[in-house]
Amino acid sequence: MPRIFSGIQPSGELHIGNWLGAVQNWVNLQHSYETLICVVDLHAITGKYDHESLAQRTREMAVGLLAAGIDPEHAILFVQSHVPEHAELQWLLNTVTPLGELERMTQFKDKAQRFESVPAGLLNYPILMAADILLYRADLVPVGEDQIQHLELTREIARKWNAEFGRGGAFFPEPQPILTEAKRITGLDGQAKMSKSLGNTIGLLDTPDEIWQKLRPAKTDPARVTRRDPGNPEVCNIYHLHKYFSPPETVALVAENCRGAKWGCLDCKRVLADNMIAALKPIRERAFELQEQPDRLEEILGDGALTARRMAGETMREVRLRMGLLAAPSAMSSRAQRGLDS
Ligand code: TYM
Repeated sequence: MPRIFSGIQPSGELHIGNWLGAVQNWVNLQHSYETLICVVDLHAITGKYDHESLAQRTREMAVGLLAAGIDPEHAILFVQSHVPEHAELQWLLNTVTPLGELERMTQFKDKAQRFESVPAGLLNYPILMAADILLYRADLVPVGEDQIQHLELTREIARKWNAEFGRGGAFFPEPQPILTEAKRITGLDGQAKMSKSLGNTIGLLDTPDEIWQKLRPAKTDPARVTRRDPGNPEVCNIYHLHKYFSPPETVALVAENCRGAKWGCLDCKRVLADNMIAALKPIRERAFELQEQPDRLEEILGDGALTARRMAGETMREVRLRMGLLAAPSAMSSRAQRGLDS
């Protein structure tokens, strides 16, 4: 069965951009592929972050994913830092990654502007992402459009490593992206990508009132100044969001009533809000249930990390060997088995 891997940072709330662009795909694909889903806390510390709330946000992200439909019976859900092999492989892949490629990554260039002194972790971020994927020798990576460039680099790193250490074969498969139709959801500002760091999101677990309070002032067709001006739905983000939350007849009605100035933007937003609230209600309810069961969450993440570590261990044994590292003395592993190193 082909294997998929994907990850999400616990750097803020799970929002509808993540959900439409990636998470819904994970939920659908988990039935047809061997699926690993990782809450990438090591990535989330490459920018400025609040270390006091990171652990809680990591838990909340896992709860959000489970509530959205990630099923531990079908997918391996785990936290990146619980599998130290991610950081180890990242280091080893550092040695085959061209510096120039890292420097030209769009996300690096954008994020680096926020720092006076750029942390090396921000530059090396895509190598950790490559390590995440290659550690499980994943074939496919369901992501939003913003991750495509990182995935291209992952393939290049895989090629370079294979050329040097692959013994004539492709030990690491070159992973391919899987995109959804919603590969780039625009934020409520109507311009930038919906993003945790820009505050232009609707959270997957927002209350009905929060959803309405956020949608009400959201940007629409800028040419529509008064209710009587006919609008152009194609340039309106609210119209595009309707496509993901409203039935096709409503989407058609929205377009017609916008063009004919029969509805004002608020009318259109109210219908969207109602449909969005209805779509997200079961997710919110499941999240509340899970928040009441911290032991269950602990068990799911523990099982996930154990399975992931077993898979990662197999890859790393081969990687260390092929890269010429001296095997750890066997006395070390028997001591570890007896629990002396814990
Ligand atoms: P992150 O945490 O920013 O986002 C998680 C997933 O959501 C997608 N996404 C969007 N899709 C459509 N429209 C949007 N506005 C939108 N915003 C976010 C992202 O494309 C992503 O698929 N570097 C990654 C995390 C990562 C990863 C990995 C992903 C680390 N290792 C290995 C895949 C494989 C990131 O920051 O995603």
